[in-house]
Amino acid sequence: MKQELKKHIVLGLTGGIAAYKAAELARLLMKQGVEVQVAMTEAACHFITPATMQALTGRPVLVNQWGAAESGMAHIDTSRTADAIVIAPATADFIAKLAHGLADDLLSTLCLARDCPLLVASAMNRQMWANAATQRNIAQLGRDGVTLLGPCSGAQACGEEGMGRMLEAEELARDIVAFLQNTPLSLALSRKRERELEGVRVLITAGPTYEAIDAVRGITNRSSGKMGYAVAQAALELGAQVTLVSGPTALPKTQGARVVDVTSAAEMFDAVKQHVADADIFIGVAAVADYRAAQPSEQKIKKSADTLTLELLPNPDILAYVANLPKPPFCVGFAAESENLREQAKAKRKAKKIPLLAANLAQQAIGADENELILFDDAGEHVLPRTDKLTLARALVQHIVILYQQGKQR
Ligand code: CTP
Repeated sequence: MKQELKKHIVLGLTGGIAAYKAAELARLLMKQGVEVQVAMTEAACHFITPATMQALTGRPVLVNQWGAAESGMAHIDTSRTADAIVIAPATADFIAKLAHGLADDLLSTLCLARDCPLLVASAMNRQMWANAATQRNIAQLGRDGVTLLGPCSGAQACGEEGMGRMLEAEELARDIVAFLQNTPLSLALSRKRERELEGVRVLITAGPTYEAIDAVRGITNRSSGKMGYAVAQAALELGAQVTLVSGPTALPKTQGARVVDVTSAAEMFDAVKQHVADADIFIGVAAVADYRAAQPSEQKIKKSADTLTLELLPNPDILAYVANLPKPPFCVGFAAESENLREQAKAKRKAKKIPLLAANLAQQAIGADENELILFDDAGEHVLPRTDKLTLARALVQHIVILYQQGKQR
């Protein structure tokens, strides 16, 4: 059913392979009552034609700064009537332009001359995303009050795998509509993101742990590390000094963070003990194995009996250890539950004596690209609705900043 949102956006396309997703995005937005005016860079026209976008939106597409636009001042007029400008896909080059205020074509001019919010959906190769220059530019956009949508990690057009892939059209449409409706998540994300964690030292655990049974076998879980790495990225964007203690994951190294690779819970515990004295904030995102083999064998165990009994010993609770230090950093925990999420999460926050706990349903969260979180703190609960993990991490880190700063003022 068509809902009458009665909003008007400019959808800006820049030259990346993800431009094909913009056609579906325009269609989904219009279905929800959003009027879409498309503007394209010349590079975008190499990936998808203005004719496609025009046919979908029923409006002429703005491409050329020097063409006979309706009033000759398209860059001013178009942004005046828009509720938001959304750039999807936004290439590394276009993001650099936005960060520096360049205006050398119609779309960049339109962004600079705008009088409305700007939303940017990054799309690029993983190395371009990880490059220090891109990260600087992304952080600058955050400081300028630009709302960042994604990117996410996954298979890339170049055949590689990693961070930088644009969100899918459905995800973008949902985030944009939420933004236009002023939901709590969109408000958190559209806050001007100053370097609020400048000089603040953040220690994060991420990924699974692997507990060896013998030379080739072990106990682990399906955690991908995506949420922990997204939290590290979000903290870095706000200027934090990040130490990321990571269990085994297939994710690329987070640029700008000090990454400590570990395998077992015991190694993770050691690494945390080594770095915690220097931490202002500790965020335990890792899915730490609760038990390890009592006597791991150095050799491969041979199949010699019908049944094999494995004795397991409990692992140290890293988060509880940190939270119980005489002078603990500000502690944030995660709770992965498979049922009774709210009750279990509240009990876990109390048991671990931590000011903030982010709870999620394990079966929906582990290994997935998307998630939803319920944050529990002294004020009660705050729901962060389903979205990609980086967007969620940014909202979570915003919440951490507020509580951390309140704590320091006391
Ligand atoms: N955690 C930890 N060390 C452990 C186990 C968990 O630091 N040995 C941390 C996790 O990183 C997470 C929080 O504690 O921030 C909760 O983890 P979770 O697995 O949900 O809970 P557990 O404490 O292991 O309890 P249970 O498995 O019984 O739900």
